[in-house]
Parts: sequence; structure tokens; C-alpha cells
Amino acid sequence: MSVFSDLRLRLLGGRSRPGDVDTGAMAHVGPHFDGLTARDVVPDAPFVFRNQLTEHPLFTDERLEWLLDRARRRSPELLEIREVSTDALPGYGRARRVDGEPVAVFRALATCPRWINVQHIERIDSDFADLYREILCELAQSIAPMRPRVLDSGAFLILSSPSVQVHFHADPDQSVLSQIRGHKRVYVYAASAVSELELEALVRTEDQGVIPWSSRIERAAFPAVDLHAGESAFLPIYAPHRVENGPEVSVSLSVGFHTGMSRRRKLALLLNDRLRGRGVTPPRVGQGAVEVGVRAALLRGWNLSRRLRGRPS
Ligand SMILES: [Fe+2]
Repeated sequence: MSVFSDLRLRLLGGRSRPGDVDTGAMAHVGPHFDGLTARDVVPDAPFVFRNQLTEHPLFTDERLEWLLDRARRRSPELLEIREVSTDALPGYGRARRVDGEPVAVFRALATCPRWINVQHIERIDSDFADLYREILCELAQSIAPMRPRVLDSGAFLILSSPSVQVHFHADPDQSVLSQIRGHKRVYVYAASAVSELELEALVRTEDQGVIPWSSRIERAAFPAVDLHAGESAFLPIYAPHRVENGPEVSVSLSVGFHTGMSRRRKLALLLNDRLRGRGVTPPRVGQGAVEVGVRAALLRGWNLSRRLRGRPS
């Protein structure tokens, strides 16, 4: 690729990457959801709607165990098992990662408190990849900014024991969490309560634990979301949340994604983070599309300039 082609793609953001999905490219399959209403903007508050995934053939015990075994053999880096607590408070501490044979751990979830996350299941199995694309395309029919494509997307299967808690954290994207078995109560907090410095740390590290819990953020809580089997919840970008399982084994599917605007805002935050590292205090990133676009282009240009000089971007 010529320097000029690379320059054009980098500045205009035209290069396709893993996780970029054309949401209008495929015939509609499903429906997998009910009750989705048309939205011109990506909401900044959670909302709940129905899913039809509880009887989907990919979520039988046999099919889930097949996926777990395939992940163990072919993609162990995508498999995460944690020893979780059922105690009252440590929603605010990350559980310890442990070894384990995933099929055996899954079969013992009812009695041995564990949390299994199979990351990017779309990379492990083509049937799950088809379902993940169908879900994104269906969501995009309702949420206008998801058209004509979403970016940096992925699907995550979460299998967890009764009554366990998932610590307070924020994800670096927006997502739809679909409950397939069991019940979860999800506590979601407004992203506007997170400081600019914390947001910059989140997008730089992609470490979900860099947003610290404080009593202050409890004032920014939305009403708790009760998610039963057959229900899905939209979780806004950068909105911290924590989860408590109900009294049954839980099977959930999370599909995360960026829109063009949220990716450009992420780049704008990364630009500010880099400027701060050089002793400059940049103005806060606003919500205006032009401003965010200019900042994103500046970061892309900066990255390209570094690469042309043989330095990492
Ligand atoms: Fe999360």
C-alpha cells in the first residue's frame, strides 16, 4: 500500500478491522428480539426488551459444552474462569482467576461458585459467528447510528453460578446483554458520573477495573435492571455496572460494539490522554460530532506520523 493510500485510510478511517460488521449486508434472520423501538441516537440510559434466544439450539447444554471444549483446545486465550464470591459486598473487588477444565466447571456451576467468560465466540465457531452478526443486524434496524456498520464488535458467553456477583466495572464499549437462563439484577450508573481522567484510563488500558467505585457514584445509579430469561438489556458505553445473579445457574450472551461516533470519541479521549502524558491539559471532549471528528483525525494523523518515522503509534 502506498503512503498516500495509507494516509487516506488512516485519516478517513476507512480500513476494515476484525469486529467491523456491515449491518445492512445480510438478509435478516430471526427475529431474535421483540419490543425494540426505533431510536435516532444511541441511548445513554439502559433499557430492556425481549429476546427469543432461550430456545435457540446454540444454547443447549450439549452445544455449550461443545463450544467450551473447542475453546479450551483451540483458543485457550479466550477462555477465562474466575472463583467468584456470593458474599454481600465484594461486588467491588475483582474475583481471582483460576484454572479448570471448562466443561467440568460448567457442569458444577450449581454447587461450585465460578464465573466463565468465553470471549469472542464469533472467532471460535461459525454458528455463533452467524448468530452474533444476526443480532447486530437486527439491533441496527432499530438503532440508527449502528447503520451501515458497527466497529470493534464481539460476542461474549458468560456462564455463572447462582447468587454470585460481578464486581463494579465499566466496559470500553456499549453492549446488549441477553439473559438465556437464570436471572440477573444489573446495577447501572450514568457514564456522566465518570471523570474524564478515568475515561481516558479506560480507553487507554481497556482494563474494566480502572474505574474505582465510590459512594459518590451511587447517586448516579439508574433504577436496577432485573433481567430474567428471555430478556435483554442495552448497557450504555462507559456506564459502570455491577451484577448480582439470582438463585439459578445463569447463561448470558453479551454483544459489544462501537458506532462510528463512539469510536471517534474513543480516539478523541486517547488524544487527550496522550496530550496529558506530555504535560498538556487538553479541553474536555464534548459531544459535538464535528469536534469529536476533528480530534479523532488529529490522533490518526499523529499515529501515522509516528509510524512513518518508525515509531509505534
Ligand atoms: Fe460489563
